Order: sequence, then C-alpha cells, then structure tokens
Amino acid sequence: MAELIKTGVPGLDHVLKGGLRRNSSILVTGAPGTGKTILALQFIYYGAKDYGENGIFISTEESLEVLDQSAKNLGMDLSSMVNKGKIFFLQKPIATLKGGITSLKGLLDVIKKKNVKRVALDSLIFFEYLYPRFDGNKMEFRRQVLIFMQEMKKAGVTFFVVSERSVTDFDRLTYDMMDFVFEGIILLSRIRKGSYFERVLTVAKIRGQDHSLDVYPVTIGTEGLKVLFDQTPFSLVEKEEGFK
Ligand SMILES: Nc1ncnc2c1ncn2[C@@H]1O[C@H](COP(=O)(O)OP(=O)(O)O)[C@@H](O)[C@H]1O
Ligand SMILES: [Mg+2]
Repeated sequence: MAELIKTGVPGLDHVLKGGLRRNSSILVTGAPGTGKTILALQFIYYGAKDYGENGIFISTEESLEVLDQSAKNLGMDLSSMVNKGKIFFLQKPIATLKGGITSLKGLLDVIKKKNVKRVALDSLIFFEYLYPRFDGNKMEFRRQVLIFMQEMKKAGVTFFVVSERSVTDFDRLTYDMMDFVFEGIILLSRIRKGSYFERVLTVAKIRGQDHSLDVYPVTIGTEGLKVLFDQTPFSLVEKEEGFK
C-alpha cells in the first residue's frame, strides 16, 4: 500500500479516503474566487506546522505580504513559518529572472538542502515563465512540464498545482491537454440556487486510488477552508414535495 499523507484541509482527507499518495502531483482547478489559493496554502502551511513537512509555495499571483494578511484572517500565521525556515516562499518568478530560483535545478537544490516534502505552485502560468521558448510548441512545452513533475517525484515531493478555468459548471467542464499530466484533479466551484451561491468541491480523479466522487459543500471562514464531507450541497438537493 502506498503511503498516504494528510492534506491539512479539514474534511478533504475523508473524501480522499485517507489522504494523498506521497509524491503524487495534484491539480486544483476552478473559477476565480473558488478557494484554490487557500487550499494550496493550507496544504503547505499545515503540512509544515502539523506534519513536520517543509514546503515551498511558489506564487505567480500574490506577494507574500498580501498572502500573509489573508492567511492571518484564515487562522494561518504564514510569515512565522517562513521565518522559522519551514516554508519557503517564491514570489512572482518573472520578477526574479536574474537571480533566485529561475530553473528547475535551482528549485531542486532548495528541495534537497531544506528537506522540502511539499511544493505548491500557484499557478500553472509559472511554467510559461519558466519555458517561454516553448510557448508556440505545445508538445515540447508539455514535455518540459512532465520532466519538471518527474523531477519533483524523484525528489520525494508531493506537488500541488493550481490552475484557473472559466467554466464553473461541473457538467460542462472541459479538460485541457495539461490536465492529463497530473495524477489527481480536485475541482472547486460555486453553485447558484436562487439568490445564493454555495461553494463546492469534488475529486475528479486520483490515478490508482479509491476516492469519493460525490460533490461536497465547502466553507471558508476564520479557520480556513473546510470540506463538509458528511453533507450534501443544499443547492443540489431536489426540492422534496409533500413534506410540508
Ligand atoms: N477570511 C475569510 N473569510 C471568509 N471568506 C474568505 C476569507 N478570505 C477569503 N475568503 C473567500 O475566499 C475567496 C478567495 O479564495 P482564493 O483561494 O483566493 O480563490 P482563488 O485562488 O480560487 O481565486 C474570496 O473570494 C473570499 O470569498
Ligand atoms: Mg488564486
């Protein structure tokens, strides 16, 4: 049996029937504002804090200052973990192209030296900064990303990657070529019922692993993002007639 690690996201490990396989690569995808960055942050933060696994958070989206502030409102003291050397934050790699981690090799060096076990990438756009030359050649680009992911696996890292997509409806979701290189896909969305929106999560696939295929309600509050694994989204419950 492969070793399962806890995600650090309350409820998600139940949905995953124990957790994520160590060294797997997981895509977290959904529309803007659905909680992808928060999910990735919790994976890194609680991995370091509760499970002793050092992490790297690569952000092409937000600065550490901005993320630290929103993390505080979600119960995470991100900067203290960064100061303790348990979490390494790489910000907007495009701005550090002349120094710092700009290559796969640079990243692998940090992983090794700092005993890093979890890496989160927010978002997939990072690869376009890393491999701008291959932009016009989709096959080569995909090959480079695959090499990157294999190296993460060899380095003993569990890898979380965020990607944005515009379609929020699970039934109308289309997959991108890049989606298939990941071993697992977690989808986040909002479902409207009347004038309310409800946050939901589903695990679309985890290669070689049994997991629930149900859609679960998600809440985001002062304790962060939680998956209500024992509930059904109210927005998906058919109106029961005759029970008034
Ligand atoms: N402290 C908080 N309390 C409640 N909801 C929050 C809090 N912080 C963020 N959110 C919600 O989380 C959403 C952003 O989540 P985020 O992970 O940044 O989304 P994504 O990365 O998918 O665009 C916000 O739109 C907001 O609704
Ligand atoms: Mg985000």
